[in-house]
Amino acid sequence: MHFVDIIDKKKRGLQLSEDEIKEWIKGYVDGVYPDYQVSSLLMAILLKGMDEEETFNLTKAMMESGDIIDLSEIQGIKVDKHSTGGVGDKTTLSLMPMVASCGVKVAKMSGRGLGHTGGTLDKLESIPGFSISMSEEEFVNQVNNIGIAIIGQTANLVPADKKIYALRDVTATVDSIPLIASSIMSKKLASGTDVIVLDVKYGDGAFMPTLEKAEELSYEMIKIGKNYGKKVAACISGMDQPLGNAVGNALEVKEAIDTLKGKGPKDFTELCLATGAVILEQAGVTDRENGYKMMEESIADGSALEVLRKLIKAQGGDERIVDDETLLPQAPYITKLKSNKDGYVSELPAKAIGILAMNLGAGRETLEDEVDPSVGIVLNKKVGDRVEAGDVLAYIHHSKPLTQEWMNRFAQVIKLVPEAFEVAPVIEKIID
Ligand code: URA
Repeated sequence: MHFVDIIDKKKRGLQLSEDEIKEWIKGYVDGVYPDYQVSSLLMAILLKGMDEEETFNLTKAMMESGDIIDLSEIQGIKVDKHSTGGVGDKTTLSLMPMVASCGVKVAKMSGRGLGHTGGTLDKLESIPGFSISMSEEEFVNQVNNIGIAIIGQTANLVPADKKIYALRDVTATVDSIPLIASSIMSKKLASGTDVIVLDVKYGDGAFMPTLEKAEELSYEMIKIGKNYGKKVAACISGMDQPLGNAVGNALEVKEAIDTLKGKGPKDFTELCLATGAVILEQAGVTDRENGYKMMEESIADGSALEVLRKLIKAQGGDERIVDDETLLPQAPYITKLKSNKDGYVSELPAKAIGILAMNLGAGRETLEDEVDPSVGIVLNKKVGDRVEAGDVLAYIHHSKPLTQEWMNRFAQVIKLVPEAFEVAPVIEKIID
Protein backbone atom coordinates (compact mmCIF):
# COMPACT_ATOMS: atom_id res chain seq x y z
CA MET A 1 0.00 0.00 0.00
CA HIS A 2 1.44 3.39 -1.00
CA PHE A 3 0.60 6.15 1.42
CA VAL A 4 0.27 8.62 -1.43
CA ASP A 5 -2.67 6.56 -2.75
CA ILE A 6 -4.47 6.92 0.58
CA ILE A 7 -3.97 10.70 0.45
CA ASP A 8 -5.14 10.80 -3.16
CA LYS A 9 -8.27 8.78 -2.36
CA LYS A 10 -9.27 11.16 0.42
CA LYS A 11 -8.41 14.17 -1.73
CA ARG A 12 -11.07 12.91 -4.16
CA GLY A 13 -13.56 12.56 -1.31
CA LEU A 14 -13.66 8.75 -1.37
CA GLN A 15 -14.15 6.48 1.64
CA LEU A 16 -10.99 5.04 3.24
CA SER A 17 -11.23 1.34 4.10
CA GLU A 18 -10.65 -0.05 7.59
CA ASP A 19 -7.32 -1.53 6.41
CA GLU A 20 -6.12 1.77 4.97
CA ILE A 21 -6.94 3.59 8.21
CA LYS A 22 -5.23 0.89 10.32
CA GLU A 23 -2.17 1.01 8.09
CA TRP A 24 -1.97 4.82 8.38
CA ILE A 25 -2.22 4.85 12.18
CA LYS A 26 0.15 1.93 12.75
CA GLY A 27 2.66 3.22 10.19
CA TYR A 28 2.64 6.71 11.70
CA VAL A 29 3.09 5.50 15.30
CA ASP A 30 5.91 3.19 14.15
CA GLY A 31 7.64 6.08 12.36
CA VAL A 32 7.19 4.59 8.86
CA TYR A 33 5.19 7.53 7.42
CA PRO A 34 6.63 11.03 7.67
CA ASP A 35 4.87 14.06 9.14
CA TYR A 36 4.54 15.75 5.73
CA GLN A 37 2.48 12.90 4.27
CA VAL A 38 0.28 12.57 7.35
CA SER A 39 -0.22 16.37 7.39
CA SER A 40 -1.44 16.19 3.83
CA LEU A 41 -3.90 13.41 4.68
CA LEU A 42 -5.16 15.34 7.72
CA MET A 43 -5.86 18.39 5.54
CA ALA A 44 -7.69 16.20 3.00
CA ILE A 45 -9.83 14.82 5.86
CA LEU A 46 -10.50 18.33 7.16
CA LEU A 47 -11.65 19.45 3.69
CA LYS A 48 -13.49 16.33 2.50
CA GLY A 49 -14.71 14.88 5.81
CA MET A 50 -15.15 11.27 6.89
CA ASP A 51 -18.35 9.23 7.05
CA GLU A 52 -19.59 7.42 10.14
CA GLU A 53 -17.81 4.16 9.29
CA GLU A 54 -14.47 5.86 8.66
CA THR A 55 -14.71 7.87 11.88
CA PHE A 56 -15.48 4.69 13.81
CA ASN A 57 -12.54 2.85 12.20
CA LEU A 58 -10.22 5.76 12.91
CA THR A 59 -11.29 5.85 16.57
CA LYS A 60 -10.74 2.09 16.84
CA ALA A 61 -7.30 2.18 15.22
CA MET A 62 -6.22 5.07 17.50
CA MET A 63 -7.62 3.41 20.64
CA GLU A 64 -5.77 0.18 19.79
CA SER A 65 -2.46 2.04 19.27
CA GLY A 66 -1.67 1.80 23.01
CA ASP A 67 -2.85 0.54 26.41
CA ILE A 68 -6.51 -0.15 27.08
CA ILE A 69 -7.15 0.28 30.79
CA ASP A 70 -8.91 -2.58 32.55
CA LEU A 71 -11.17 -1.28 35.32
CA SER A 72 -12.99 -4.56 35.91
CA GLU A 73 -11.52 -4.81 39.43
CA ILE A 74 -13.49 -1.72 40.43
CA GLN A 75 -16.87 -2.62 41.88
CA GLY A 76 -19.84 -0.57 40.69
CA ILE A 77 -20.58 1.69 37.73
CA LYS A 78 -17.52 3.61 36.55
CA VAL A 79 -18.23 7.06 35.15
CA ASP A 80 -16.20 9.64 33.30
CA LYS A 81 -16.95 13.04 31.88
CA HIS A 82 -15.01 14.94 29.27
CA SER A 83 -15.09 18.62 28.53
CA THR A 84 -14.12 19.71 25.03
CA GLY A 85 -12.18 22.49 26.75
CA GLY A 86 -12.72 26.03 27.81
CA VAL A 87 -11.75 28.94 30.04
CA GLY A 88 -12.47 28.79 33.78
CA ASP A 89 -13.56 25.18 33.35
CA LYS A 90 -13.01 23.62 36.78
CA THR A 91 -16.01 21.30 36.39
CA THR A 92 -14.16 18.06 37.20
CA LEU A 93 -13.08 19.41 40.61
CA SER A 94 -16.65 20.01 41.82
CA LEU A 95 -18.75 17.68 39.70
CA MET A 96 -16.81 14.45 40.18
CA PRO A 97 -16.89 14.60 44.02
CA MET A 98 -20.63 15.38 43.73
CA VAL A 99 -21.43 12.28 41.66
CA ALA A 100 -19.02 10.09 43.66
CA SER A 101 -20.89 11.06 46.84
CA CYS A 102 -24.03 9.62 45.16
CA GLY A 103 -22.46 6.18 44.80
CA VAL A 104 -20.99 6.00 41.30
CA LYS A 105 -17.27 5.33 40.86
CA VAL A 106 -15.04 8.02 39.40
CA ALA A 107 -11.90 6.64 37.71
CA LYS A 108 -10.72 9.67 35.80
CA MET A 109 -7.74 10.53 33.66
CA SER A 110 -7.31 14.22 32.94
CA GLY A 111 -5.07 16.42 30.84
CA ARG A 112 -3.06 19.63 31.04
CA GLY A 113 -3.96 23.04 29.68
CA LEU A 114 -2.57 24.54 26.50
CA GLY A 115 -3.01 28.02 25.07
CA HIS A 116 -6.10 29.83 26.32
CA THR A 117 -7.68 26.69 27.81
CA GLY A 118 -6.90 25.33 31.26
CA GLY A 119 -6.37 21.71 32.28
CA THR A 120 -7.53 19.79 35.34
CA LEU A 121 -4.05 18.43 36.16
CA ASP A 122 -2.59 21.93 36.48
CA LYS A 123 -5.44 22.92 38.79
CA LEU A 124 -4.99 19.82 40.97
CA GLU A 125 -1.23 20.36 41.16
CA SER A 126 -1.81 23.82 42.60
CA ILE A 127 -2.91 21.98 45.77
CA PRO A 128 0.28 21.61 47.86
CA GLY A 129 1.54 18.01 47.73
CA PHE A 130 -1.11 16.68 45.33
CA SER A 131 0.22 13.90 43.08
CA ILE A 132 -1.37 13.09 39.73
CA SER A 133 0.50 9.85 39.10
CA MET A 134 0.10 6.36 40.56
CA SER A 135 0.27 2.76 39.35
CA GLU A 136 -2.76 1.12 37.76
CA GLU A 137 -3.13 -1.05 40.87
CA GLU A 138 -3.07 1.95 43.22
CA PHE A 139 -5.57 3.72 40.95
CA VAL A 140 -8.01 0.78 41.12
CA ASN A 141 -7.54 0.42 44.91
CA GLN A 142 -8.15 4.11 45.55
CA VAL A 143 -11.38 4.10 43.52
CA ASN A 144 -12.55 0.99 45.39
CA ASN A 145 -11.67 2.55 48.77
CA ILE A 146 -12.93 6.13 48.46
CA GLY A 147 -14.93 6.13 45.21
CA ILE A 148 -12.70 8.51 43.29
CA ALA A 149 -9.24 8.99 41.77
CA ILE A 150 -8.08 11.60 39.25
CA ILE A 151 -4.73 11.07 37.55
CA GLY A 152 -2.82 12.09 34.42
CA GLN A 153 -3.15 9.98 31.31
CA THR A 154 -0.66 7.12 31.28
CA ALA A 155 2.20 7.57 28.81
CA ASN A 156 1.00 4.81 26.51
CA LEU A 157 -2.68 5.78 26.38
CA VAL A 158 -3.51 6.35 22.69
CA PRO A 159 0.03 7.25 21.52
CA ALA A 160 -1.42 7.80 18.02
CA ASP A 161 -3.42 10.74 19.36
CA LYS A 162 -0.36 12.31 21.00
CA LYS A 163 1.48 12.33 17.66
CA ILE A 164 -1.47 13.29 15.49
CA TYR A 165 -2.73 16.01 17.85
CA ALA A 166 0.70 17.66 17.92
CA LEU A 167 0.73 17.64 14.12
CA ARG A 168 -2.84 19.00 13.86
CA ASP A 169 -1.90 21.81 16.20
CA VAL A 170 0.72 23.13 13.76
CA THR A 171 -1.03 22.33 10.46
CA ALA A 172 -4.38 24.10 11.07
CA THR A 173 -6.23 20.78 11.12
CA VAL A 174 -7.67 20.81 14.65
CA ASP A 175 -11.21 21.94 13.76
CA SER A 176 -12.44 18.85 11.93
CA ILE A 177 -15.37 16.99 13.49
CA PRO A 178 -14.18 13.43 12.59
CA LEU A 179 -10.67 14.24 13.85
CA ILE A 180 -11.92 15.76 17.13
CA ALA A 181 -14.48 12.98 17.69
CA SER A 182 -11.92 10.20 17.11
CA SER A 183 -9.28 11.97 19.23
CA ILE A 184 -11.59 12.39 22.22
CA MET A 185 -13.43 9.08 21.98
CA SER A 186 -10.30 6.96 21.45
CA LYS A 187 -8.96 8.28 24.78
CA LYS A 188 -12.28 7.91 26.60
CA LEU A 189 -12.78 4.35 25.34
CA ALA A 190 -9.20 3.36 26.20
CA SER A 191 -9.79 4.70 29.74
CA GLY A 192 -12.29 1.91 30.33
CA THR A 193 -15.34 3.46 32.08
CA ASP A 194 -18.96 2.34 31.57
CA VAL A 195 -20.50 5.83 31.33
CA ILE A 196 -19.09 8.78 29.39
CA VAL A 197 -20.79 12.17 29.64
CA LEU A 198 -19.47 14.76 27.24
CA ASP A 199 -19.49 18.41 28.20
CA VAL A 200 -19.41 19.96 24.73
CA LYS A 201 -18.67 23.67 24.48
CA TYR A 202 -19.28 26.07 21.65
CA GLY A 203 -18.61 29.74 21.02
CA ASP A 204 -15.71 32.12 21.36
CA GLY A 205 -13.45 30.09 23.65
CA ALA A 206 -14.28 26.63 22.22
CA PHE A 207 -13.30 24.43 19.28
CA MET A 208 -16.87 24.42 17.94
CA PRO A 209 -18.01 27.86 16.77
CA THR A 210 -21.80 27.31 16.81
CA LEU A 211 -24.50 25.29 18.59
CA GLU A 212 -25.16 23.37 15.34
CA LYS A 213 -21.51 22.32 15.06
CA ALA A 214 -21.47 21.34 18.74
CA GLU A 215 -24.55 19.17 18.13
CA GLU A 216 -22.93 17.54 15.11
CA LEU A 217 -19.80 16.72 17.14
CA SER A 218 -21.94 15.40 20.01
CA TYR A 219 -23.94 13.04 17.76
CA GLU A 220 -20.72 11.77 16.22
CA MET A 221 -19.12 11.00 19.60
CA ILE A 222 -22.31 9.45 21.02
CA LYS A 223 -22.59 7.10 18.01
CA ILE A 224 -18.98 5.95 18.45
CA GLY A 225 -19.43 5.32 22.18
CA LYS A 226 -22.71 3.45 21.75
CA ASN A 227 -21.10 1.24 19.12
CA TYR A 228 -18.79 0.11 21.94
CA GLY A 229 -21.75 -0.59 24.23
CA LYS A 230 -21.07 2.43 26.44
CA LYS A 231 -23.67 4.75 27.94
CA VAL A 232 -22.90 8.12 26.38
CA ALA A 233 -24.65 11.51 26.54
CA ALA A 234 -23.66 15.08 25.78
CA CYS A 235 -24.49 18.36 27.53
CA ILE A 236 -23.95 21.34 25.24
CA SER A 237 -23.13 24.72 26.76
CA GLY A 238 -21.87 28.09 25.59
CA MET A 239 -18.26 29.19 26.07
CA ASP A 240 -18.63 32.81 24.97
CA GLN A 241 -17.60 33.92 28.45
CA PRO A 242 -15.47 32.06 31.03
CA LEU A 243 -17.29 29.49 33.14
CA GLY A 244 -17.77 30.80 36.69
CA ASN A 245 -15.70 33.76 37.85
CA ALA A 246 -12.18 32.41 38.37
CA VAL A 247 -9.59 31.77 35.64
CA GLY A 248 -6.27 30.48 36.98
CA ASN A 249 -5.26 27.31 38.77
CA ALA A 250 -5.38 27.88 42.56
CA LEU A 251 -8.14 30.48 42.07
CA GLU A 252 -10.24 27.83 40.32
CA VAL A 253 -9.58 25.27 43.06
CA LYS A 254 -10.87 27.83 45.57
CA GLU A 255 -13.97 28.42 43.43
CA ALA A 256 -14.58 24.67 43.09
CA ILE A 257 -14.40 24.33 46.92
CA ASP A 258 -16.74 27.31 47.39
CA THR A 259 -19.16 25.63 44.98
CA LEU A 260 -19.14 22.46 47.07
CA LYS A 261 -19.96 24.67 50.08
CA GLY A 262 -22.99 26.09 48.20
CA LYS A 263 -21.29 29.44 47.58
CA GLY A 264 -20.28 28.98 43.94
CA PRO A 265 -21.10 31.17 40.95
CA LYS A 266 -24.59 30.57 39.53
CA ASP A 267 -23.58 29.46 36.03
CA PHE A 268 -20.90 27.05 37.24
CA THR A 269 -23.12 25.55 39.95
CA GLU A 270 -25.94 25.04 37.43
CA LEU A 271 -23.58 23.31 34.96
CA CYS A 272 -22.42 20.90 37.69
CA LEU A 273 -25.96 20.13 38.93
CA ALA A 274 -27.36 19.52 35.43
CA THR A 275 -24.38 17.51 34.15
CA GLY A 276 -24.33 15.47 37.37
CA ALA A 277 -28.02 14.64 36.88
CA VAL A 278 -27.22 13.29 33.40
CA ILE A 279 -24.31 11.21 34.76
CA LEU A 280 -26.54 9.65 37.46
CA GLU A 281 -29.22 8.94 34.85
CA GLN A 282 -26.76 7.29 32.44
CA ALA A 283 -25.32 5.25 35.32
CA GLY A 284 -28.83 3.95 36.08
CA VAL A 285 -28.91 5.48 39.59
CA THR A 286 -32.09 7.51 39.15
CA ASP A 287 -33.96 9.72 36.67
CA ARG A 288 -32.68 13.14 35.69
CA GLU A 289 -35.10 15.13 37.85
CA ASN A 290 -34.30 13.18 40.98
CA GLY A 291 -30.62 13.18 40.04
CA TYR A 292 -30.65 16.98 40.05
CA LYS A 293 -32.10 16.93 43.58
CA MET A 294 -29.47 14.41 44.68
CA MET A 295 -26.77 16.73 43.31
CA GLU A 296 -28.21 19.66 45.29
CA GLU A 297 -28.36 17.46 48.39
CA SER A 298 -24.71 16.42 47.94
CA ILE A 299 -23.78 20.08 48.37
CA ALA A 300 -26.29 20.88 51.11
CA ASP A 301 -25.28 17.97 53.38
CA GLY A 302 -21.53 18.43 52.80
CA SER A 303 -21.05 14.91 51.41
CA ALA A 304 -19.51 16.09 48.11
CA LEU A 305 -17.03 18.30 49.99
CA GLU A 306 -16.06 15.29 52.12
CA VAL A 307 -15.28 13.30 48.96
CA LEU A 308 -13.03 16.11 47.72
CA ARG A 309 -11.26 16.16 51.09
CA LYS A 310 -10.66 12.39 50.88
CA LEU A 311 -9.45 12.66 47.29
CA ILE A 312 -6.90 15.34 48.20
CA LYS A 313 -5.67 13.36 51.20
CA ALA A 314 -5.44 10.06 49.28
CA GLN A 315 -3.31 11.69 46.58
CA GLY A 316 -0.87 13.26 49.02
CA GLY A 317 -2.32 16.78 49.02
CA ASP A 318 -2.86 19.09 51.97
CA GLU A 319 -6.56 18.53 52.67
CA ARG A 320 -6.62 21.48 55.09
CA ILE A 321 -7.11 23.74 52.02
CA VAL A 322 -10.77 22.66 52.07
CA ASP A 323 -11.26 24.63 55.30
CA ASP A 324 -8.52 27.20 54.88
CA GLU A 325 -8.16 28.36 51.30
CA THR A 326 -5.28 30.69 52.26
CA LEU A 327 -3.12 27.54 52.28
CA LEU A 328 -3.39 27.52 48.47
CA PRO A 329 -0.70 29.43 46.55
CA GLN A 330 -1.42 33.17 46.81
CA ALA A 331 -0.28 35.79 44.30
CA PRO A 332 1.66 38.65 45.89
CA TYR A 333 -0.41 41.36 44.16
CA ILE A 334 -4.13 41.89 43.52
CA THR A 335 -5.11 44.73 41.19
CA LYS A 336 -8.67 45.86 40.44
CA LEU A 337 -9.94 46.56 36.94
CA LYS A 338 -12.72 49.15 37.29
CA SER A 339 -15.38 50.23 34.82
CA ASN A 340 -15.28 53.80 33.53
CA LYS A 341 -18.96 53.81 32.56
CA ASP A 342 -22.45 52.48 33.38
CA GLY A 343 -24.22 49.72 31.48
CA TYR A 344 -24.81 45.98 31.23
CA VAL A 345 -21.95 43.60 30.45
CA SER A 346 -22.53 42.28 26.92
CA GLU A 347 -19.15 40.68 26.12
CA LEU A 348 -16.52 38.95 28.23
CA PRO A 349 -14.80 36.98 25.45
CA ALA A 350 -13.55 33.70 26.87
CA LYS A 351 -10.64 33.25 24.50
CA ALA A 352 -9.21 36.75 25.04
CA ILE A 353 -9.57 36.39 28.81
CA GLY A 354 -7.94 32.96 28.67
CA ILE A 355 -5.00 34.47 26.77
CA LEU A 356 -4.74 37.38 29.23
CA ALA A 357 -4.62 34.87 32.11
CA MET A 358 -2.03 32.81 30.21
CA ASN A 359 0.09 35.96 29.79
CA LEU A 360 0.03 36.38 33.60
CA GLY A 361 1.51 32.86 33.88
CA ALA A 362 -1.71 30.90 34.57
CA GLY A 363 -1.41 28.90 31.34
CA ARG A 364 1.21 27.71 28.91
CA GLU A 365 1.89 28.80 25.37
CA THR A 366 3.95 25.70 24.59
CA LEU A 367 3.91 22.32 26.30
CA GLU A 368 7.29 23.05 27.92
CA ASP A 369 6.15 26.25 29.72
CA GLU A 370 5.77 26.22 33.54
CA VAL A 371 2.55 27.57 35.04
CA ASP A 372 2.36 29.85 38.07
CA PRO A 373 -0.41 28.28 40.19
CA SER A 374 -1.20 31.46 42.11
CA VAL A 375 -2.04 33.90 39.32
CA GLY A 376 -5.15 34.58 37.26
CA ILE A 377 -8.29 36.64 36.93
CA VAL A 378 -11.43 36.66 39.08
CA LEU A 379 -14.36 38.26 37.28
CA ASN A 380 -16.60 40.37 39.48
CA LYS A 381 -19.24 40.86 36.76
CA LYS A 382 -20.59 38.40 34.21
CA VAL A 383 -22.54 38.84 30.98
CA GLY A 384 -25.91 40.48 31.70
CA ASP A 385 -24.82 42.09 35.01
CA ARG A 386 -25.50 45.76 35.74
CA VAL A 387 -22.36 47.87 36.15
CA GLU A 388 -21.98 51.43 37.49
CA ALA A 389 -18.94 53.56 36.66
CA GLY A 390 -16.26 52.81 39.28
CA ASP A 391 -17.49 49.24 39.92
CA VAL A 392 -14.85 46.51 39.96
CA LEU A 393 -15.10 44.39 36.80
CA ALA A 394 -12.33 41.96 37.76
CA TYR A 395 -9.60 41.25 40.29
CA ILE A 396 -6.23 40.45 38.76
CA HIS A 397 -3.97 38.17 40.81
CA HIS A 398 -0.39 38.61 39.60
CA SER A 399 3.17 37.94 40.63
CA LYS A 400 4.87 40.45 38.32
CA PRO A 401 3.98 44.11 37.73
CA LEU A 402 1.19 44.55 35.16
CA THR A 403 2.01 46.46 32.00
CA GLN A 404 -0.23 49.28 30.77
CA GLU A 405 -0.54 47.41 27.46
CA TRP A 406 -1.95 44.34 29.28
CA MET A 407 -4.42 46.44 31.30
CA ASN A 408 -5.59 48.25 28.15
CA ARG A 409 -6.09 44.96 26.34
CA PHE A 410 -8.18 43.64 29.24
CA ALA A 411 -10.26 46.83 29.50
CA GLN A 412 -10.91 46.79 25.75
CA VAL A 413 -12.24 43.24 25.52
CA ILE A 414 -15.02 43.87 28.06
CA LYS A 415 -18.02 45.45 26.33
CA LEU A 416 -21.04 47.13 27.92
CA VAL A 417 -24.42 48.03 26.38
CA PRO A 418 -26.94 50.56 27.73
CA GLU A 419 -29.98 48.23 27.88
CA ALA A 420 -30.61 45.08 29.95
CA PHE A 421 -31.04 41.86 27.93
CA GLU A 422 -31.86 38.20 28.46
CA VAL A 423 -28.95 35.84 29.14
CA ALA A 424 -28.97 32.36 27.50
CA PRO A 425 -29.37 29.32 29.81
CA VAL A 426 -26.12 27.62 30.87
CA ILE A 427 -26.88 24.24 29.29
CA GLU A 428 -28.52 24.68 25.92
CA LYS A 429 -29.13 21.08 25.00
CA ILE A 430 -28.77 17.56 26.35
CA ILE A 431 -28.39 14.75 23.79
CA ASP A 432 -28.40 11.03 24.55
N1 URA B 1 -9.68 17.62 22.66
C1 URA B 1 -9.08 16.49 22.25
O1 URA B 1 -8.72 15.64 23.07
N2 URA B 1 -8.89 16.30 20.93
C2 URA B 1 -9.27 17.18 19.99
O2 URA B 1 -9.10 16.94 18.83
C3 URA B 1 -9.89 18.38 20.42
C4 URA B 1 -10.09 18.56 21.77
